[in-house]
Amino acid sequence: MADAVYPVPAEWDRDALIDEARYREMYAESVFDPERFWRREAQRVDWIRPFTTVSQSSFHEEDFGIAWFADGTLNLSANCLDRHLEARGDAVAILWEPDDPRTPDRRITYRALHEAVCRFANLLKARGVRKGERVTLYLPMVPEAAVAMLACARIGAIHSIVFAGFSPDALAGRIQDCDSRIVVTADEGLRGGKTIPLKANVDEALKACPGVETVIVLARTGAGTPMVEGRDIDWATSVAEQGADCAPEEMNAEDPLFILYTSGSTGKPKGVLHTTGGYAVWASMTHEYVFDYKPGQVFWCAADVGWVTGHSYVVYGPLMNGATTVMFEGVPNYPDPSRFWQVVDKFGVETFYGAPTALRALMREGDAWVKTTSRKSLRLLGSVGEPINPEAWGWYHAVVGEGRCPIVDTWWQTETGGIMIAPLPGATDLKPGSATRPMFGVVPRLLDNDGAVIEGAGDGCLVLAGSWPGQMRTVWGDHARFFQTYFSTFKGYYFTGDGCRRDEDGYYWITGRIDDVINVSGHRMGTAEVESALVAHPMVAEAAVVGMPHEIKGQGIYAFVTTNAEVEPDEALRKELVQWVRHEIGPIATPDVIQFAPGLPKTRSGKIMRRILRKIGENDLSNLGDTSTLADPSVVDSLIANRPQPA
Ligand code: PRX
Repeated sequence: MADAVYPVPAEWDRDALIDEARYREMYAESVFDPERFWRREAQRVDWIRPFTTVSQSSFHEEDFGIAWFADGTLNLSANCLDRHLEARGDAVAILWEPDDPRTPDRRITYRALHEAVCRFANLLKARGVRKGERVTLYLPMVPEAAVAMLACARIGAIHSIVFAGFSPDALAGRIQDCDSRIVVTADEGLRGGKTIPLKANVDEALKACPGVETVIVLARTGAGTPMVEGRDIDWATSVAEQGADCAPEEMNAEDPLFILYTSGSTGKPKGVLHTTGGYAVWASMTHEYVFDYKPGQVFWCAADVGWVTGHSYVVYGPLMNGATTVMFEGVPNYPDPSRFWQVVDKFGVETFYGAPTALRALMREGDAWVKTTSRKSLRLLGSVGEPINPEAWGWYHAVVGEGRCPIVDTWWQTETGGIMIAPLPGATDLKPGSATRPMFGVVPRLLDNDGAVIEGAGDGCLVLAGSWPGQMRTVWGDHARFFQTYFSTFKGYYFTGDGCRRDEDGYYWITGRIDDVINVSGHRMGTAEVESALVAHPMVAEAAVVGMPHEIKGQGIYAFVTTNAEVEPDEALRKELVQWVRHEIGPIATPDVIQFAPGLPKTRSGKIMRRILRKIGENDLSNLGDTSTLADPSVVDSLIANRPQPA
């Protein structure tokens, strides 16, 4: 069956920044004359000292390295704030909507944001924070999160944001890995009417982090929290003592900007490191072109700043471009499933950028919740984080956007810094479920399992040939792991970990992860992480975790657990293990199914055959493949016979 095609609407073809002819021209230039293309595009940054070299990058082991605009200098906070003051100082930079619609919103101008950032930057300096030092942020979705990020960028400190849904253990691991001496948090977070004990979590985490000297505590709910003398300081009273001016530090383009931990297929989460100049160019360029951003527009990316989407499209991209960016503290269905669209109406949002998992959840609640709102300000919709199924795409397009708004389905990763494959709304005909075509400078290739390039239409492993400015530069503290993870599987290419199909029109269709990473509600979870949380429980002998299809989350977590011999597994233990994993990692790692299994399918050499477990998780029992190499093939029959019904 031919895929449905939604052509570029006439007014988009006419008015958008980039139409089809321009896309082709710019793409060709970006690939065949990258020097020229990037010299021009990089002018979107105010450089302190202009760069002379564009890119010095190689994915080959002999001369491996990635560097962009390497001898240029800049300050990203000045690019997001200071340079807008003259023309747009009184324009709103951040429109903040609280969790509870009955509490007042906040509208923070560029001038006010600049002052808040300077004061906080001065506070960091007063606490001894120096250029290159790591500052861990564990904050709710409040404007102060952006303030803290920009303050770090201003003084050249490296921020490491830990999503406020992560457990004390997960937080501690991230603080230790990058050696933070300072943590910024809030008394409590507020989401969907529930409080999250952020400061108490920090206190718990810091038992394992003796190196932390300062904790800055924002009073979000005012609940009050025990303050450790000499270590904990109150945000508001401390910044009040600081000056409202702080000169931006001159940073090299390749100086680190932030670390963001993300899950991989093996071991602990890794600290993805992004640097300053290339990231700035990439975040701002993709924000402008993919969202057809024009000055004065209100832009809403509904992601949390704890994820990369929040870094690039709540904070850095929009603020670089002088936009009004919406920051939403709450959740899509609180107090009711109209919430997103009410906020759209309230602020006159023109572009809304969200995740398929939220759309699927809202779609299930029925159209009436959408239709009670106007949404007439909306002109463009975006999707990110996981494949969007055509059904959710159709609902987003027809019901939310009333058939009027193009949808940009954007494929990218924490590692890529910004959008890599996506339609441009004035150029690209849309096909529901396809991220369509590459961004400027991005050269995708499909490889078969032997590493041979697939030409034309086909299905394979998605790799990228050649660097782009927003690419991560290393894994914090482990450069060897960086090379090993991304560049050793297919020589000379960056391996994304995703499978992908390319159709006859050259459109890309991401089919999902092909490594041991699962995508739960648009968030990456390493199966190894969940397994190690499970085996840390005293009654668990062994665990294997796989993904399973999940109607709302996209993928759910299916865990096979073997208990110690003397343990009789029961419903109580199942519940306990679910709580255990939530406590060890955080609610996003909640197992959807736990199947107790006296034995796991293993080869004679003792290796777990995950392929078979994946099939059982997917309930695809018809083609389990060859089981003859198993030490005990009957294990599989018993697993199938005892497969629990997912809740
Ligand atoms: O599998 C792809 C999926 O999310 C992974 C990246 O996850 P993360 O680093 O957490 O970043 C999420 C936000 C950019 C990818 O390897 N993914 C992301 N966007 C899409 C997607 N899969 C299909 N379509 C997308 N638009």
